[in-house]
Amino acid sequence: MKRIAQSLTDPDFVQNPYPFYDHARALGPIVMWDDMGMAAAFDHASVAALLRDRRLGRTPPTPRPRPAHLEPFRILEDHSLLELEPPRHTRLRKLVLHAFTSRRVANLRPDILEISEDLLSALPKDAPFDLIPTYCQPIPVRIIARLLGVPESLAPQLLDWSRDMVAMYQTGVTLQIETQAGQAAQEFTDFMRRYIEERRTKPADDLITQLIAAEEDGETLSTDEMIANCILLLNAGHEATVHSIGNAVRVLIEHTLTPTPDTADALSEELLRYEAPLHVFTRFAYEDITLPTGDILPKDAEIALVLGSANRDPAVFDTPNTFDPNRNAKLHTSFGGGLHFCVGAPLARAELQIALPKLFEAYPNLKLQSPPSFANSYHFHKHDTLIVAP
Ligand code: HEM
Repeated sequence: MKRIAQSLTDPDFVQNPYPFYDHARALGPIVMWDDMGMAAAFDHASVAALLRDRRLGRTPPTPRPRPAHLEPFRILEDHSLLELEPPRHTRLRKLVLHAFTSRRVANLRPDILEISEDLLSALPKDAPFDLIPTYCQPIPVRIIARLLGVPESLAPQLLDWSRDMVAMYQTGVTLQIETQAGQAAQEFTDFMRRYIEERRTKPADDLITQLIAAEEDGETLSTDEMIANCILLLNAGHEATVHSIGNAVRVLIEHTLTPTPDTADALSEELLRYEAPLHVFTRFAYEDITLPTGDILPKDAEIALVLGSANRDPAVFDTPNTFDPNRNAKLHTSFGGGLHFCVGAPLARAELQIALPKLFEAYPNLKLQSPPSFANSYHFHKHDTLIVAP
């Protein structure tokens, strides 16, 4: 296996990781990424195969450290389907999908439209403004609040908790980040526990009520499992959607493209391929695995699956570094694959398909006021600020 060096905090890399990905892919499907401290898969075939390989999984073979300040965060992970493998993952995912159905997502489409219109009506008509806090951020959190049945007025609080917890997934986690994540996890858990207890006596037409009712082969969700997975829906569902909308708007403006309700479906897939909001996930090997390079990935070793690079693999996408609104981009890996394939993909797609055309209908001449830069936070590929002019 060849080796490669690339700092994860190098500003040039963070702004544009694609030349490095091209270079790494040319060295071989799997390369030892020194700065990541593990082997990494850069090509589409290996990323797709490893995501589906049941000999690997997300649960670490040796339990993660549980210092007191992180314990509430770890308790949530103990019950979160994102952190589990079969058979618990299978049971939890089935129960969550019982409640988070395609009908429920379809029923949220008018809500996405209404929230988009509501936000647009309050935006400046003739002065530059930052699109991230005013449009990209509120849509996903308000939709998740409606999905869960939590009052939308609590959206800012949900966002604060989510942000503090999600910070754990970026590179360079400090004691302060851990402490804040632990505190947010505790407060969010307490809040959800009260809310779930209330729903037990006062059912409503929301996901929490349906999670309480969800049953599979005589199994139901415990309160701790419900809390962990409701919090997961917010944490997993929020950041990535915010940044996929932000990235999409920038790319559309740069390519002078206006999405319409008719073109938004195909366009959204190409936008997700071209500028994925989450670039890398890892897996642990549960046994010795022979990699496509012939090397052995030893039991317990971790391997990085670089989704952002798989999306730019010329073996699957012609001229992959070109944004092509007419291509069929459905094979992109931005939602992962296999057992952990994104539960919220239909919702995220609906948000892009509705929010983007609405924005450009309201602002047909939308421009970038200043050149946007990406936040220095690999693996999130995101704009924290996107100043646009009507
Ligand atoms: C554009 C937006 C989104 C992107 C790019 C995205 C991406 C992903 C990816 C890559 C994974 C798999 C991680 C892995 O394999 O290790 C995942 C899992 C997950 N996502 Fe999303 N996601 C998005 C939106 C959402 C939304 C809106 C929700 C829910 C409201 C959501 C809920 C989840 C959950 C619950 C999982 C865990 C599934 C499991 O482990 O079985 N995501 N997402």
